[in-house]
Amino acid sequence: MLNSALGTLLYRILPNDYSWGLLSPQEQSIVNSANADQYLDRPEYRNPELKEAYRSFDQDDPRQSDLVGGWLHEWLDNEEPHTVLEIGPGWGFYTHSICFHPAVKRYIAIDNNPYFLDWLRPRLVKVSETKPGFTFDLVVGDAGTVHIPTCDAIVMLSAIHHIPDRAVLFRQLASKLCVGGTIFAIDPSHYLPRIIVLLKKFIRDHRRPGFWRNYRNLNTHHFCTIGEFLRILNEVNELSIDLVRYHNFCFPRGIGRAISLWLNKNYPPPVDGQWVVDRRDSMCRWFCWQMNIVFRRQ
Ligand SMILES: C[S@@+](CC[C@H](N)C(=O)[O-])C[C@H]1O[C@@H](n2cnc3c(N)ncnc32)[C@H](O)[C@@H]1O
Repeated sequence: MLNSALGTLLYRILPNDYSWGLLSPQEQSIVNSANADQYLDRPEYRNPELKEAYRSFDQDDPRQSDLVGGWLHEWLDNEEPHTVLEIGPGWGFYTHSICFHPAVKRYIAIDNNPYFLDWLRPRLVKVSETKPGFTFDLVVGDAGTVHIPTCDAIVMLSAIHHIPDRAVLFRQLASKLCVGGTIFAIDPSHYLPRIIVLLKKFIRDHRRPGFWRNYRNLNTHHFCTIGEFLRILNEVNELSIDLVRYHNFCFPRGIGRAISLWLNKNYPPPVDGQWVVDRRDSMCRWFCWQMNIVFRRQ
């Protein structure tokens, strides 16, 4: 599949589970190598210091003021988890919210980029010095294969789209999550806006042999769909879906505001014109850029 321009277009455009399933074992191992190596190319991934304070653990502003931060806080307040596992904390912008939440006493992070975890470590030591009873553990590895400790809640923010075999990932998450525990995930979504961007990239650049023959360009950057999650749940029966919210729509905000009363059945129209659709089968999802999903362990 990955040995032609059209094959690689199909690889990017199909929902992730279909394209991953179509790859030969050899192609899957090429993609896995590309995933393992991609962080070595980007200076701010090798040296998280380059990101400075903006949207990192060090930022002072309260995180609740943005949509994602607000939902994360709402979920933490409702669930009050004692032990939280975060997959792919990166620069730790939301790690700050998790660690300083009064209910959270133990924080575990898994990231396949050791530079992020090295950067977070001294910051978490400071948290443990100021928050009584707080402990943490940082594990370098691929979330799909590394040993995962038992926990009562899991957070994945913009991490799922880097992981190719999500059935394997969710099977192992379900096996380590306490009964009644939840997984809170926000990730970019694979609907029309994304598909259009991929087609544009293909026309501009990605069709060239010089691009797709370079294995590093074949890394997993496959956004999420509700269809893929439902197919995963057919295999991982211990998990059910508590909540789905589509947001970041591609319409101008004015239009969002105008029709938000009709769409946002359970949300007042937000002042900034953002709108949210919380019906998982809504056709509006085809126009969104991001989705929030919460799974519960039965
Ligand atoms: C786009 S960043 C998101 C960072 C942060 N959660 C945020 O929302 O700002 C993706 C994160 O997932 C991590 N990651 C990617 N693939 C992973 C894998 N297979 N296992 C564990 N972490 C992974 C990356 O190293 C990075 O920290």
